[in-house]
Amino acid sequence: MTLRTLDSLGSLAGKRVIVRCDLNVPVKDGVITDDGRARASVPTLNTLLEQGARVIVISHLGRPDGAPDAKYTLEPVAARLGELLGKPVAFAHDTVGDEATAAVEALGDGEIVVLENLRFNAGETSKDEAERHGFAEQLAEFGDAFVSDGFGVVHRKQASVYDLAEILPSAAGLLIETELDVLDRLTENPERPYTVVLGGSKVSDKLGVIGHLLPRVNTLLIGGGMLFTFLKAQGHEVGSSLLEEDQLDTVRGYLAKAEELGVTIVLPTDVVVASKFGADAEVEITAADSIEKTAFGASGLGLDIGPDTAAHFAEIIAASKTVFWNGPMGVFELAPFAAGTKAVAQALTEVDGLGVVGGGDSAAAVRALGFSDNQFGHISTGGGASLEFLEGKRLPGLEVLGWS
Ligand code: 3PG
Repeated sequence: MTLRTLDSLGSLAGKRVIVRCDLNVPVKDGVITDDGRARASVPTLNTLLEQGARVIVISHLGRPDGAPDAKYTLEPVAARLGELLGKPVAFAHDTVGDEATAAVEALGDGEIVVLENLRFNAGETSKDEAERHGFAEQLAEFGDAFVSDGFGVVHRKQASVYDLAEILPSAAGLLIETELDVLDRLTENPERPYTVVLGGSKVSDKLGVIGHLLPRVNTLLIGGGMLFTFLKAQGHEVGSSLLEEDQLDTVRGYLAKAEELGVTIVLPTDVVVASKFGADAEVEITAADSIEKTAFGASGLGLDIGPDTAAHFAEIIAASKTVFWNGPMGVFELAPFAAGTKAVAQALTEVDGLGVVGGGDSAAAVRALGFSDNQFGHISTGGGASLEFLEGKRLPGLEVLGWS
């Protein structure tokens, strides 16, 4: 079955259309630090508004515990959406209560409201199907049709992602269509050489994706906190660097499997070691097999790939035809440990083919390091969702829209 797209809903002029976006943007002290997901929501919203639909935007932000929590309000995101759309965006301080009801009723054709964080309601994420479905029924009261466009959340079987799509006439929005087009190109006959760059702190978060991708890629580059578990699996000491002892056997298994398949796993040959975790730490660059030989001994902390590794990774990436990157190479938020991530991002902009930044921390990293979205083939809005897609998992939020 194929994905139901917007045209399957017919004319939406004058109709109340609920749009599930993923407006889960990072917010610090009430200020949005990366509005990428809000910007990615604009094409669908504009398309609907231009048709004269009455648009009701729903989303989660963070992981509040099923009750209101001011820290996770969507109010600043609604304001940002207004700036991006260049028109007033109303905001309701509740999701299904009196204020939301009044705000939806007040909508005219071509007008838009954002309702408060879905996860302020226990029903949104409830494991109890009846409770979850009950909340979706309440949401459904507001709409004549439902557009699912929060790609970042399609791996969650939640009320606003799954149940609501079953209750109302539903279709995928433009963002989901775009994301699937790109991810399909990574899984169905990717142009070769195909290189995947994995970073981030934990190997355990990436096990599924490594296992699924190994037979499909030509080269796998490993950086980020997880590299130390790989180094340790090869018998090297890693000082006080991040280490997942319980993953050592799995990692050894991947290294053996790669050899059997003829896939090259490239591990760093040098790393940036710090005396402590902080921008004011003392720093030494050392060979990856000599982490404990710096002045910091066993307390040395590897926090970035080294310059030789960064140059080598950049060369491999720039010579590839397809590249998928997920996870920073080091603690890019601290200037002394940002160079590895920056080098990988720069190389990705030079790919003569398809270079994809896979959501979450990597998307935040490229923007924080001063790159702009249009320098890359695609920046996915899905962190967990794009990884689960690449793992070949069935995603409930897509299946309910006809995708299989
Ligand atoms: C994300 O940030 O990956 C999505 O918004 C999903 O958020 P969640 O992991 O809290 O469900």
